[in-house]
Amino acid sequence: MKKIILTGDRPTGNLHIGHYVGSIRTRLAIQEKGDYEKFYIMIADTQALTDNAKNVDKVTNNVIQVVLDYLSAGIDPEKTCIFIQSLVPELFEITSYFMNLVSVARLKRNPTVKSEISMRGFENTIPAGFLCYPISQAADILAFNANIIPVGNDQLPMIEQTREIANTFNSTYGEVFTLPNAVLPEIKACERLPGTDGKLKMSKSLGNCIYLKDSAEEIKQKIMSAYTDPDHIKVSDPGKIEGNVVFTYLDAFCKDEHFAKYLPDYKNLDELKNHYQKGGLGDVKVKLFLNNIMQETLSPIREKRAQYEQNIDKIYEMLFKNSEEASKEARKTLEKMKEKMALNYKNFAKKG
Ligand code: TRP
Repeated sequence: MKKIILTGDRPTGNLHIGHYVGSIRTRLAIQEKGDYEKFYIMIADTQALTDNAKNVDKVTNNVIQVVLDYLSAGIDPEKTCIFIQSLVPELFEITSYFMNLVSVARLKRNPTVKSEISMRGFENTIPAGFLCYPISQAADILAFNANIIPVGNDQLPMIEQTREIANTFNSTYGEVFTLPNAVLPEIKACERLPGTDGKLKMSKSLGNCIYLKDSAEEIKQKIMSAYTDPDHIKVSDPGKIEGNVVFTYLDAFCKDEHFAKYLPDYKNLDELKNHYQKGGLGDVKVKLFLNNIMQETLSPIREKRAQYEQNIDKIYEMLFKNSEEASKEARKTLEKMKEKMALNYKNFAKKG
């Protein structure tokens, strides 16, 4: 089967290291392998508006920020089609046909929507667009007949709902869609990286993110003040690894070669963890090690970003061209859908 890969991000802020390990790294590996027919990365501006209706600027200004983050992290526009959701109007038409196939109760049961509703205090004020965004996300995926969707685990309910919608459409009107599958990051620690303060999620509003574009000083300062084990007071105290942000980040970023380079007293992360748990290893030493790794990972990204920032007009040109291409592709699907739905007045006219 032809592999069509699609994924996306809401443009509500710069990308941080949680995005890097949770999605960017997987995308780079896919790109490197090159085993696909088409690889789409969608900037989900319309989806971001479903809970930012009064902050359109925040969304539109962040589109270029996210694209700069992609490109500087190594997403290659020759190998991927990065496009802007709102520039593909077919997606909305597809969404509206799907809306008739999903109940409001089912939308309210979607676990991701449920937790987002409570996080945003939307209990009685949910915008209809917000409640329906899983349907529009299904349109994003199915419009391109994408079958591989690399995402974080918080997106699994969306893919599940997309499969249901595809099935319902197929059984109601006739086969148009193949069912997509989610692909999760391979390392468990990467599915959701905690914030530097130890909170479950990195989020701009909590101020607990390390951004891909952070300066060397910002990175160091954030790592040195990161949450570890509050009971690990003296160096000789035994320390806890669970919930210790510094070790979680090491799980996500550290390779054995880093030890030879920066901390040759240890062979690998298991040895370091054992020593920390036994006692006798101070937080500062571990944090400085993590800092070395993060600087090595993020400084090439920062340098590339500075170059791309000189070429903003070319980047927009690429986005416009790609969005047109995506629009043509989505149109083909829309025509197929209408054909199956017998929503084709031209045929009626011919029959007379
Ligand atoms: N909901 C995704 C997020 O919040 C963004 C997104 C929109 C997406 N459409 C998509 C992801 C289609 C994968 C496929 O990050």
